[in-house]
Amino acid sequence: MHSVDATTEQMIRSVLAYAENRLRLDPVPLDEGARDPAALDAALRGLLGDLPHNPDQVLGVYTSCVAPAVISADSPRFLGFIPAAPTKAALLFDMLISCASIQGISWLEAAGAIQAENQVLRLIADRAGLPESAGGCFVSGGSAANLSALLVAREAAKRRAAGAEPAATGAAGPGAGRRWRVAVSSDAHSSITATLRILEMDGLAVPTDDHRMTGAALRAAIEADGDPSSLAAVVATSGTTNAGIIDDLAGTAAVCRELGAWFHVDGAYGGAGLFAPSIRRAYDGIEQADSFIVDPHKWLFAPFDCAALIYRDPSLARSVHRQDASYLDVIHADPAEWNPTDYAYHLTRRARGLPLWFSLAVYGVRAYSEAIEAAISLARQAAAEIGTRSDLELIREPQLGVVLFRRLGWTPAQYTGWADQLLHDQVAFIPPTAWEGETVARFAFLHPHTSMDLVREILDRMR
Ligand SMILES: Cc1ncc(COP(=O)(O)O)c(C=O)c1O
Repeated sequence: MHSVDATTEQMIRSVLAYAENRLRLDPVPLDEGARDPAALDAALRGLLGDLPHNPDQVLGVYTSCVAPAVISADSPRFLGFIPAAPTKAALLFDMLISCASIQGISWLEAAGAIQAENQVLRLIADRAGLPESAGGCFVSGGSAANLSALLVAREAAKRRAAGAEPAATGAAGPGAGRRWRVAVSSDAHSSITATLRILEMDGLAVPTDDHRMTGAALRAAIEADGDPSSLAAVVATSGTTNAGIIDDLAGTAAVCRELGAWFHVDGAYGGAGLFAPSIRRAYDGIEQADSFIVDPHKWLFAPFDCAALIYRDPSLARSVHRQDASYLDVIHADPAEWNPTDYAYHLTRRARGLPLWFSLAVYGVRAYSEAIEAAISLARQAAAEIGTRSDLELIREPQLGVVLFRRLGWTPAQYTGWADQLLHDQVAFIPPTAWEGETVARFAFLHPHTSMDLVREILDRMR
């Protein structure tokens, strides 16, 4: 299994040949998606036992049965949820990283990889206007990044409370038994709700007029609540998942500063818009974030899975996340060394920032800006096209790459039927969503090769 023998040579040829063909797909087709579990089970049965199999036979099962039973998120026809569109360079480099077995925990083990990753984090931090001292690490996704950041926020609140409490207020310790709260609008991502549950914090709901959290709405919610001292953090979203709305970051930041609350910006989807000059102003205020996340596996064209997590004050994050054990003392011997493990809830990690580093270096940052602008522009064109059709209605002007619209007179079943047929015909993956309780249609544009012709074809099928 670990030597280079005839089987290894055979696998190098056939697996790499498959990977090469996959890389050469242009465009990537949608593929078929969900299958009957019993049929999949039957096709896979018998492979996992004591005896070996010819690798080409196993690869054949993958190509004939596993690979088609997905919907390819990197197809320009994938317009649901939040798609993916990894660059060819990033995909290739991801393969290289997989072969290199880099253990990305510590500077001791992976200094070169970590320096390259940190340069990418710096590039993102610069776009956000965060200070030179900002830093963090790459984690698996927005959910992991939100969890890691809000854990630091909660611990910071506890410490603040401890500092404010007179000494010896009781045996239980600072803030003991206290439930901390996080102000959040109902349009925040579901991973924020999950994070609060895990961290045993409660949400302080911020009602919004138009699905966009503003400083005024936040202030009103806190004043109405009457217990601002329990507020550990505020989560603003720079690009809501369902509608692509950027909260009022400057207004939110101002309230956070006033109250001493942690200001977290979830840019998992929309944070990439920092690289799009046409909308950069909408992010004003992000430079005041205590923590900021963006998923390069979404709109920064990296392969799964990759989220950038950046703290204004990484030393605070380190004091929360650092794992201590006798066998880890060696990685902490020199405090000047940067250990990604110290900045999130993880120990072992792949150097998942490197495919993005390679791709940015190969294509240049300007190509990224142009590709992000392409999706924004397509969203605006699609919105205009919807406006020309009497049976369609735009729900709101798109700010990023998401377009919400309704087909007048349709029932939820008609939306589902339309979406199912589009997938069946391999035209597009565009599942419906809900908006204020109503089933509606939603384009999520991200791939720079998605075309207006495809948009028109999809809309034509709503007649
Ligand atoms: C705004 C936002 N936050 C967080 C997440 C969670 O990210 P992940 O799926 O990478 O865990 C998403 C995913 O779509 C998102 O859109």
